[in-house]
Amino acid sequence: MAWFELENASEVPSPSLLIFADRVRENLARMVTIAGGPERLRPHVKTHKLPQIVRLSIELGITRFKCATLAEAEMLAKARAPDVLLAYQPVGPNVQRLKALFDAHPETRFSCLLDDAPSALALSSAFADSERALGVWLDVDVGMNRTGVADPEVAQALYALLVELPGLFVRGLHAYDGHVQARDLTERTAQANAAFARLDALADELKRAGFPVEARVIGGSPSFKIHAQHGGVELGPGTTVLWDHGYGTNFPDLEFLPAALVLTRVVSKPTDNRLCLDLGYKAIGSEGPPPRVQLRRRRPTRDGELADRGAWARAARGEVLKALVARLT
Ligand SMILES: Cc1ncc(COP(=O)(O)O)c(C=O)c1O
Repeated sequence: MAWFELENASEVPSPSLLIFADRVRENLARMVTIAGGPERLRPHVKTHKLPQIVRLSIELGITRFKCATLAEAEMLAKARAPDVLLAYQPVGPNVQRLKALFDAHPETRFSCLLDDAPSALALSSAFADSERALGVWLDVDVGMNRTGVADPEVAQALYALLVELPGLFVRGLHAYDGHVQARDLTERTAQANAAFARLDALADELKRAGFPVEARVIGGSPSFKIHAQHGGVELGPGTTVLWDHGYGTNFPDLEFLPAALVLTRVVSKPTDNRLCLDLGYKAIGSEGPPPRVQLRRRRPTRDGELADRGAWARAARGEVLKALVARLT
């Protein structure tokens, strides 16, 4: 039976996200191989948000994780993840929410990002009386222009403040290079290495100035293999765990397996050439241009791939289709 066939499809409600555990395990194993060891990985959990996948990761020796929200951080703590990095700086009421989570899970080593002094001061006053300090990472903008400090002098001044602030201790530098998206591997390697060079230069400057830089975290999936060549960094891919159709198409050099599909049914077929699916269109990652899913109907070809792209157009009402999603977010 092909990987995406289900024995009990008629019992599965639609829409449903199907996760194929063997493929997840295989993707995690490939991540460990590329990284050169589980201790070099800090996978992002935003694409799956699942404790089951966290546990599979821990079974392979992965102890460090990244997440985007406090809900994901809580999921990780409950799944007994030893080390959880919240990859944003908490502001407003989220400072106290992080503190409550931190207090509720003393066995988990929490940390978060910071990229400005007022946020650092607010976090420090929330944690100043705590028995344990909160780990913080200076968020460095290495070209994506999202969060993070880009100017090395500003970065150094903020790092100096973080080292001094009570309630916090500095873990090191974090950089996400989501702008590294070139399909061509040579071009992507140049983009990724330019991002790495900015992080590396800052780490060198900080060390020269006498600051500790215990660790550095860099990258997402497109740059994963490239940064794996550099020593002394933790690698932060997330999409590699479930893989998706968009990354699979854009980055064929990354040999991961699609491990998730959305099961959908034809809920209405008012005319011969119109189908309405309960695919939950708005729930599928909405970045990027349409088509955001690739629908599949027929059995696979001999090489195991999903086949017959157009066949879904002939699907009947109530029929089950599988959707490969362009972007799992
Ligand atoms: C801070 C951070 N790190 C890592 C990742 C994972 O990147 P990817 O989806 O390319 O695996 C993301 C994704 O958005 C991110 O925001």
